[in-house]
Amino acid sequence: MTTIEQVPWASMPPAARSGGDDTGSRLIDRWFPCASVDAAVGTPTGSGLSEKALFTWFASRPIAQARAAVLTALLPDQAMHHGDVQKAIVSGAADAQQRLRKVIAAQYPAGRPVVLDMFSGRGIIPLEAARLGVTAVGTDLSPVATLAGRLLADYPLRDWSAEPDLPFKQPPADEALFDEGVPRLLRDARLIMAEVGSRVAEAVSPLYPRNSTGAFPWAYLWAVTIPCDHCRRRFPLIGSMVLRHPYRRTEDDGQALQLVVEQDTWHTEVVEGSPLKEPTFAAAAGKKGKSARCPFPACGHVHTLESVKRIGQAGQYRDALLAVGEELEGVRKIFRAPTQQEIEAAASVDLSALPPLSGLCAVPDEVIPDGNQDTVRASAYGYRTYGDLMNPRQTAKFVATARAIREVATDCIAAGLSTEYATALAGYAAANLPRQLRLATRGAKLRTHGKPDGTAQNRVKVADVFSNESKVSFNFDYLETGPGDGPGTWFSLSESGLNALKKVLAESPAGRPGRFRRASAIALPFRDGSVDAVITDPPYYNMIDYADASDLFHVWLRRTLRDLTPDLFDQSGHDGLQDKTDEIIVKRGNAPDEHRTRDFYEQMLSRAFVEARRVLRPDGHLVVVFGHSDPDAWRRLLGALHDAGFVVTSSWPSRTETAATGVASIKVTVTIGCRVAALNRPAVTAAQVDREVTERVKAAAREWDREGLALTDQLMAAYGPAMEIYGRYSKILKPDGGRAELDRYLTLARTAVRDATALKLDELPLDTFDAPTRFAVFWQRLYARSDVPKGEARFLAQADNLRLEELRGALLTESKSGYRLRLDAPDVVGEQSSAFEVVRGMAAAWDQNATEGVAAVLAQGERLPTDAHLWAVVGEIVAQLPPSDQVAKALTAVQRNAATITSLAHRAVTASAGESVAQLALSLPDEES
Ligand SMILES: C[S@@+](CC[C@H](N)C(=O)[O-])C[C@H]1O[C@@H](n2cnc3c(N)ncnc32)[C@H](O)[C@@H]1O
Repeated sequence: MTTIEQVPWASMPPAARSGGDDTGSRLIDRWFPCASVDAAVGTPTGSGLSEKALFTWFASRPIAQARAAVLTALLPDQAMHHGDVQKAIVSGAADAQQRLRKVIAAQYPAGRPVVLDMFSGRGIIPLEAARLGVTAVGTDLSPVATLAGRLLADYPLRDWSAEPDLPFKQPPADEALFDEGVPRLLRDARLIMAEVGSRVAEAVSPLYPRNSTGAFPWAYLWAVTIPCDHCRRRFPLIGSMVLRHPYRRTEDDGQALQLVVEQDTWHTEVVEGSPLKEPTFAAAAGKKGKSARCPFPACGHVHTLESVKRIGQAGQYRDALLAVGEELEGVRKIFRAPTQQEIEAAASVDLSALPPLSGLCAVPDEVIPDGNQDTVRASAYGYRTYGDLMNPRQTAKFVATARAIREVATDCIAAGLSTEYATALAGYAAANLPRQLRLATRGAKLRTHGKPDGTAQNRVKVADVFSNESKVSFNFDYLETGPGDGPGTWFSLSESGLNALKKVLAESPAGRPGRFRRASAIALPFRDGSVDAVITDPPYYNMIDYADASDLFHVWLRRTLRDLTPDLFDQSGHDGLQDKTDEIIVKRGNAPDEHRTRDFYEQMLSRAFVEARRVLRPDGHLVVVFGHSDPDAWRRLLGALHDAGFVVTSSWPSRTETAATGVASIKVTVTIGCRVAALNRPAVTAAQVDREVTERVKAAAREWDREGLALTDQLMAAYGPAMEIYGRYSKILKPDGGRAELDRYLTLARTAVRDATALKLDELPLDTFDAPTRFAVFWQRLYARSDVPKGEARFLAQADNLRLEELRGALLTESKSGYRLRLDAPDVVGEQSSAFEVVRGMAAAWDQNATEGVAAVLAQGERLPTDAHLWAVVGEIVAQLPPSDQVAKALTAVQRNAATITSLAHRAVTASAGESVAQLALSLPDEES
């Protein structure tokens, strides 16, 4: 594969390959350390997980890929550097990095090269450039992301040694942090966080009564209550009564919540062992969706989810405290019922008297925009503002935290620290807010590990509200952590932030601070021709709603940092949230007037690449990292690049994504090398380009196959080589004189992958089957029973010259998230039916009428019982499905009874017209089931 430490097109001069001029050839033009990236992404050196822990942001490109992209875009195209690049990626070897830094410096004698990431997110790519000592610049539309970039790749690379000491006393624990040689920034960030934590604890202590040992309890379990539609009495919506599962190994019986109902009131108790009663918000036996059952004995009224939502939309939800969690010896979590004092303290919060923060209402009153029911889930339940996402006591704690961060920054400046340093330190403290928000709000439920039978470890935690990529989840019962110690509290999250900072500092011994500005990629604040390389990871189409999902962070960061970083948090959209006018995404959901459509994505991306071309030196490189399972996303990205005047010069797949994203998971992202298209490219005929693309992709696919790259990923990786060839020509002319467009070659690339796999069923080549069967077999190999996005389904149909519309119904069912292959009984079986449909008919007939049924289907489909293609499809479906699948079971039985079915069907053909298949069966051997 392009593993690719080897050289595709090695024999070809760069100008012929790229269509660009031959000046400034870089490693990426001919070589990329794909195998090293693949090997490193799962390791602490290459994953970047600890760097990413510094600030929550929603795109997870591994650091190994960023490092590879930056190094190969800056290093000269000389094989002698391959070894050092591989070392730098796999082990982060300091000596190799040092040597490469020098080579890069020598490559740019006129001054440090400038590397720009115009979609910089949390700043992973600029960090890698900054570490190499080049001028690293990051821009992002989101102020939250821009702050993240500064915390990762700017402040840690600055020298703060001339700053005076902080005016706070050192916290007692972790003295090692104050040893000689501990970086100044790390030491002071720790001091600031400790100071903020203790100021907050003091400010909110009246709201959180201490326990008998004088400590704050670890956490509090809350639930939303609703008035019963029938008896009008309020009751809590509890999704699970388990507080801690039992664990046999430690002789722990576990704990459960008990709802005690007395006349018109209820209260909670905590019992040892497993739950004695059902939760009030659960799926009823045999039903799919959850519903709420009124627990009052004389009532028991059941509320559908829709009616529960209606109650919320009418403003009828209230919060109630159910249980309190204490940490026993720092390990086990023990729950108890809340005391009366705790219930009263929690209810005593008065938010109305809070003075404003940064000129804004202290409680975030920014309205959650329409169309976010899928992204900010609470908005579907009647919660209108970002302030509504927490209960009043949680809000009071966040307000106290924002205020404490502002005050410590002011104290620092008063003690003589530079505003820049105070801002940096306040930034690290503020980075704890998103970390804490992830584990707070009504989406943070109690996470009970273990099993009801006590056979598994039974840890208890707070669940992350981003359980599903960038969607802020919602639950009726949720956990609130206290102002003391324990998972999810300020102090424990400070430790994770500091550990991340420690690693960034340790791995950036040299380098030059990156510069981060908030800017839209369509209007970059840089001069023409001022950038040597643009290396970027553009928004992934419809996968992540960056701004909508981070507005929860934005409202709190704005209240905290507005005065210190006015360039980020002073301006905002008209609604007080992040400005989304230019956000280059495809927004999911059906909000009226939503402008972030597919066409908008393509047009804006194209404008962004035009901007990249403007700021790039004429011989500069554009490197784009991209991955998506939907071909439509690829078509739009590649179309945007092409429209902006870039040509793809090389493309390098690496296995970087492991998380399931969207409907189909992507495991591969492609690093795409681009140059500005040369003016003198030749024109050519479509026939020639068709041939070149097919040969090139087939050759690559055979390599990918040997490397074990999944077929779905090969389809995606194939766009690169197709685009490389497409970009070599100024015009591609069809016989009718018209121009061949990009789409033609994206389809051709995928067809070439399919042809290269040379699928055979029972030694019969796939292309000897009828077209719908070819389509269905290939689909099943790729996606089995998963949902497939429409764009992908259309591409697959086109590869067999079929139209999606013809396949809908007969072979595919349409669902909300795409299309799915039908394996159930076809609507009819006849002479015109494809082999795939006849086989589905055979499976269904087996379940109803065994051998006779199957023989009858063969007769209806006018198929010979010896039809090798038919039996090959039977074998293929069985092989692709799990053995427990009902269709697989039926077809396995069909295979076992092939002899009987064949004889029955033969005799049906030859028998006299009056003799039925059922009569013939009487004289045949017994069936095997
Ligand atoms: C795939 S992410 C980049 C992730 C980054 N590589 C990282 O490691 O965090 C894409 C970024 O594009 C940003 N974005 C979206 N529209 C933009 C625009 N018009 N201008 C600049 N940035 C934009 C998003 O805010 C998001 O941070």
